[in-house]
Amino acid sequence: MTSPNTEAEHVEATNLLYRDPALYDLVQSDSASAGMCQTLIELHRPAARTLVDFGCGTGRDLEILAKSFDCIGVDLQPGLVDHAHQARPELDIRTGDMRTVRLGQRMDVVTCMGNSLAYVHDNEEISQVFATFAAHARPGALLVLCSPIAPITQTDPTTAAVDTPSGPAAVTIRYEWDLRTQINTMHRHWVLPSGEEAQDEIRRRVLFPRELERYAAGAGFEVLDILDGTGARLTAPTAYTVARYAQR
Ligand SMILES: C[S@@+](CC[C@H](N)C(=O)[O-])C[C@H]1O[C@@H](n2cnc3c(N)ncnc32)[C@H](O)[C@@H]1O
Repeated sequence: MTSPNTEAEHVEATNLLYRDPALYDLVQSDSASAGMCQTLIELHRPAARTLVDFGCGTGRDLEILAKSFDCIGVDLQPGLVDHAHQARPELDIRTGDMRTVRLGQRMDVVTCMGNSLAYVHDNEEISQVFATFAAHARPGALLVLCSPIAPITQTDPTTAAVDTPSGPAAVTIRYEWDLRTQINTMHRHWVLPSGEEAQDEIRRRVLFPRELERYAAGAGFEVLDILDGTGARLTAPTAYTVARYAQR
């Protein structure tokens, strides 16, 4: 396993948005993860009071969830955690590696959203992450994941305008799929309003639904449902997994 510091530097280098957390918040502001998470908690564990979010980034979901739950967030990247402390000082957000971190607390809900799980590529390390989820789950706790369950295989680049504080940036995205490693790489090219350019290379491990079931079961969780963001039949490349911790 690479050390958390090296891994954090590596992850930061791959993505402009991690080097500019304020821009990250702006670009991701319309995400519906927190709302979906709340709906799933309401359905499966309405009495939940405490929640831990692994790979919480800048804490944008936690800000919403903290209105309903006592929350702790954990993220690998000190830069994002520093930004979270400044932008959302009321939140309890800590630097940590979800492969190894132990907070010494068990919660009613464990979350890992916004594809954070996909940043862990190795099978053994994915098992370690699920062991971390289990180590922070009370008996009967709910686990809510939002992660890629199928690759994006379309290889043609697409370009879109993205609003930034200094004007629209042109962002071109292209995907690559390696079936052997199940890594879906997103190549993202930015042309910023200043004319400056940046290149992201974001490598996400796809865990298909049956794999998610195995990793979850291996750590003592029973998958209750895997559903896409609209609640419709599973077709989207990204899905929500909801599982319950049964103490072994
Ligand atoms: C795409 S961001 C999603 C952040 C947040 N969940 C959201 O939806 O805005 C993925 C996050 O996973 C974090 N991450 C990656 N590997 C991690 C690890 N081993 N431990 C903790 N966080 C990790 C990254 O630092 C990054 O903040």
